[in-house]
Amino acid sequence: MTKILAFSGSTRRGSFNQAMVEAAAKGAEEAGAQVTVINLADYPMPIFSEDLEAELGMPEHALAFKKLLLEHDGFLIASPEYNSSYPAVLKNAIDWASRMAEGEKPLQAYKGKAVGIMASSPGALGGLRVLSVLRMLLGNIGMVVAPNQKAIGKAHALVDENGVVVDEKTLTQLKALGAETAELTKKLTA
Ligand SMILES: Cc1cc2nc3c(=O)[nH]c(=O)nc-3n(C[C@H](O)[C@H](O)[C@H](O)COP(=O)(O)O)c2cc1C
Repeated sequence: MTKILAFSGSTRRGSFNQAMVEAAAKGAEEAGAQVTVINLADYPMPIFSEDLEAELGMPEHALAFKKLLLEHDGFLIASPEYNSSYPAVLKNAIDWASRMAEGEKPLQAYKGKAVGIMASSPGALGGLRVLSVLRMLLGNIGMVVAPNQKAIGKAHALVDENGVVVDEKTLTQLKALGAETAELTKKLTA
């Protein structure tokens, strides 16, 4: 079965992006994928440093995150837009998991896998600008980024106090992106 890992680039309690990626995950599930949703808040990692890596090796949570990436065929990622780019916490996690262990191929956690991307913000544009840089980053580490993407603005009006997307139109759009990512993942792993 196609396995998809879903996470956001936010560790904020009540994150809109976490809510969005969970909605997209439902679409991937309905399309037949087995989806694991994680929250990066559960995987706190030090800021990557080659000196730290040389002295202490891969930190426990970085190792656990990378293992999850390796175990899944494709990803769904919702990223906040911080000053028109992705938050450091997301890039840091991606960087740690890009490190090659003995016996691994370069970028093994990423290469050739599908990824669906979305962004969300309380602002009108929904973090649209982060999607181009995130698409470029993921493409550069060998991922196949789904052609469609979604930027969801005015997020505070679309998510309830439990962090669930309650706006039907948004839910439909995100589920479609999740389903498309599941289909793409299936094709790439066939
Ligand atoms: C450092 C920082 C920079 C931000 N820059 C932007 C921005 O460029 N564009 C935008 O739409 N929102 C920006 N925001 C607001 C975020 O969209 C907002 O905090 C959002 O809720 C973050 O996503 P989350 O709810 O998933 O944590 C910024 C927030 C922070 C803390």
